[in-house]
Amino acid sequence: MTTGRFITVEGIDGAGKSSHLEFLASAIRARGVEAVVTREPGGTPLGERLRELVLHEAMDGTTEALLMFAARREHLVRVIEPALARGAWVLSDRFSDATYAYQCGGRGLDRAVFRALEGLVHPARQPDATFLFDIDPQVAAERQRAQSRTPDKFEREAGDFFGRVRDAYLERAAASPGRFRVIDASGSLEDVRGRLAQAFAAAFP
Ligand code: TYD
Repeated sequence: MTTGRFITVEGIDGAGKSSHLEFLASAIRARGVEAVVTREPGGTPLGERLRELVLHEAMDGTTEALLMFAARREHLVRVIEPALARGAWVLSDRFSDATYAYQCGGRGLDRAVFRALEGLVHPARQPDATFLFDIDPQVAAERQRAQSRTPDKFEREAGDFFGRVRDAYLERAAASPGRFRVIDASGSLEDVRGRLAQAFAAAFP
């Protein structure tokens, strides 16, 4: 049996990461392994209910981080770890790096609190590879405006919120250069897909 791999995709709202999930899943399946595609917050029935709350209710930043990690714990125990144990490759749309970026970078949560929660919830688990879709927040905001769906609580954030989220992502990437692959998410979908395909091939030769 092959060993599972844990792969995450990250980026600010409007970076376009979700458009590339199916492509990554196909690249995994092309290797003849099971791909489990999932997301955070969410991925379990309880996690999806918590997602509704954190995406639509105003709350304190620490409360937000606690709910993200509560949903994450369920996700890990019920979905991620069992899938990895049977040799599947798990592809998650966001994981703890998002909490670091949004709650620490965006909301100003103390990084020591983040590290304590991370140590409690997944002391021995980190993604094998993280694809970070990096883009100028102004370009991302224009992409968001072009979509007609109703924005959630985070998507309505203004000012320099996404600049701070982006900086925190890049800070996290710089701290774990072996795990992160930073992808320039500007340009057309095809351009970005080409960069992602290269980065995926390099991460999993
Ligand atoms: P997102 O992944 O962008 O989904 P969609 O494409 O459906 O909008 O939405 C999740 C939002 O939750 C996003 O704005 C980032 C935020 N988030 C956090 O603030 N902290 C976290 O730990 C996670 C996982 C997400």
